[in-house]
Amino acid sequence: MKILVLNGPNINMLGIREPDVYGRQTFSDLLALLKQTAEDHSLQIDQFQSNHEGALVDKIQEAYGVYNGIVINPAAYTHTSIAILDALKAVSIPTVEVHISDVSAREPFRQISYAGRACVKTITGQGLDGYRQAILYLKENYG
Ligand code: DQA
Repeated sequence: MKILVLNGPNINMLGIREPDVYGRQTFSDLLALLKQTAEDHSLQIDQFQSNHEGALVDKIQEAYGVYNGIVINPAAYTHTSIAILDALKAVSIPTVEVHISDVSAREPFRQISYAGRACVKTITGQGLDGYRQAILYLKENYG
C-alpha cells in the first residue's frame, strides 16, 4: 500500500512553534515516526510539507492513480481552503485528517474543517501519534 502524508503551513516548525499547544517533538521526529511506521507495517509512505496552498493542491492531484491513501494535516488551511477540499473530492482517495492539537477545544475559527468534509476519519489531539493512527486506519480499512 502507498500512502501520501501531507502537511500544511508551519508544520515544519514543530518543536519551535507554540510548544504548549503542539508539544516539543520536532518535524524531524515526525519524519522519523513516518519512516518507522512504514518499516513496521511494510508500507510505502511518502511525505510532503508546504506552506503554500496551491502546492498542496498540486500534490493531491498528482496522487491520483499513484497512492491508495492520504493522511493530511492541512494546518491553518483546514479552516479556509475550499481548494484543498475540492482537490480531495476530485481524486477520491481515502483520506484521514489529522490535527496534532485538540482543535475542538480551541478558538471558534478552528471549528470549521473544509478538508474534513472529504475525509473518511478525523484524528485530533493525539500529538504526532495521530499520524501513526491515521496510517494504520488506512491500512486496516483500505489496504
Ligand atoms: C493544526 C491545527 C490548526 O488549527 C492550526 O492552524 C495548525 C495545526 C494541528 O495540527 O493541531 O497549524 O492543524
